[in-house]
Amino acid sequence: MNKKTVRDIDLKGKKVIVRCDFNVPQDENGKITDNRRIVAALPTIKYLLEQNCKIILCSHLGRPKGEVKPEFSLAPVAAELSRLLGQEVKLAKDVVGEDAKRLASELKEKEIMLLENVRFEKGEEKNDPELAKELADLAEVFVNDAFGTAHRAHSSTAGIANYLPAVSGFLIEKELKFLGETVNNPKRPFVAILGGKKVSDKIGVIESLLEKVDTLMIGGAMAYTFFKAQGYNVGNSICELDKLDLALELIEKAKTKGVKLMLPVDTKVGKEFAKDTESKIVKYTEIPDGWEGFDIGPETIEMYKKELESAKTVLWNGPVGLFEFDQFAVGTNEIAAKLATLDAVTVIGGGDSAAAVEKAGLADKMTHISTGGGASLEFLEGKALPGIECLLDK
Ligand code: 3PG
Repeated sequence: MNKKTVRDIDLKGKKVIVRCDFNVPQDENGKITDNRRIVAALPTIKYLLEQNCKIILCSHLGRPKGEVKPEFSLAPVAAELSRLLGQEVKLAKDVVGEDAKRLASELKEKEIMLLENVRFEKGEEKNDPELAKELADLAEVFVNDAFGTAHRAHSSTAGIANYLPAVSGFLIEKELKFLGETVNNPKRPFVAILGGKKVSDKIGVIESLLEKVDTLMIGGAMAYTFFKAQGYNVGNSICELDKLDLALELIEKAKTKGVKLMLPVDTKVGKEFAKDTESKIVKYTEIPDGWEGFDIGPETIEMYKKELESAKTVLWNGPVGLFEFDQFAVGTNEIAAKLATLDAVTVIGGGDSAAAVEKAGLADKMTHISTGGGASLEFLEGKALPGIECLLDK
């Protein structure tokens, strides 16, 4: 990485503001259901403690759209951080208000505080320079470790770097290393598995991966647009009728690039979008009217698993089926289980595929699971990420 990290500047005893991505899922009672993003921020926080820093953490949670809404408070995150670190993390009542300013000014070496949800401020998502300056005024150095939000140009992710020396934390460094090496310097064969709902969400990443991979496997609802484009009936399956030409172009492009583009050969269809709906396996050419495709079928699973056997690098983004419903999670679980057995670099591109691997209990069997959903997709597409662009060059 050509950007400075916390290792590259003298931080001893300094007051540091650290942008993290603590946008974690919670249940209806506000209980955090997956703390991976909080755990991923710990190495940087621990390093800053070793440097005797005064630490101000900052993050968004959800999309409160510039309004103070108690259900989006970072209080559960402050409690979880305190538990994980074994020391108190004080939560400010506001972002750049009186309470935050007072707590920040009283902060001693090795103490940690957390600002309230930065998206309670109207200026945050507009990258308002005044808010950026107020955040900067709380500290002497800015550390960005919010990889999951690095694709957003907001006051706390990018604007603030105009007012303070800005470096990355260890999480951003690690994410760029794994995602970057995977796409730019992969051990071959390099196989990518792409799932998810829409071709339109993944065009950029498909096009960019067609330049790099040996094999591209398609799964998820996106597959039905490819079937329809080839003239087959898709019943009630999700299908983007305005992307049929694009699907055909992508098939052609794969051919010219010498990439093996694999599409499902069978699919599990259901009567309706419901957990216990009636379901059956059909060939991809024979989806009946009134049925909707929710998973790849057993023949496809075997075909994909066989192809994965010889892979040396695998990048997976997007579940291959409706994994939230057990009867349609078979494809996704089987792919996850296969990846866990491979002697290969396995990188999971965040978002739903990370949740699926976690749900299957196989997270520790993967080389790297990205904490970024949208951010990792944009990075894989080759786009510049504002939260990284704004940092000091090495
Ligand atoms: C994410 O969960 O992808 C990040 O935290 C970014 O959240 P956002 O899409 O609301 O900006």
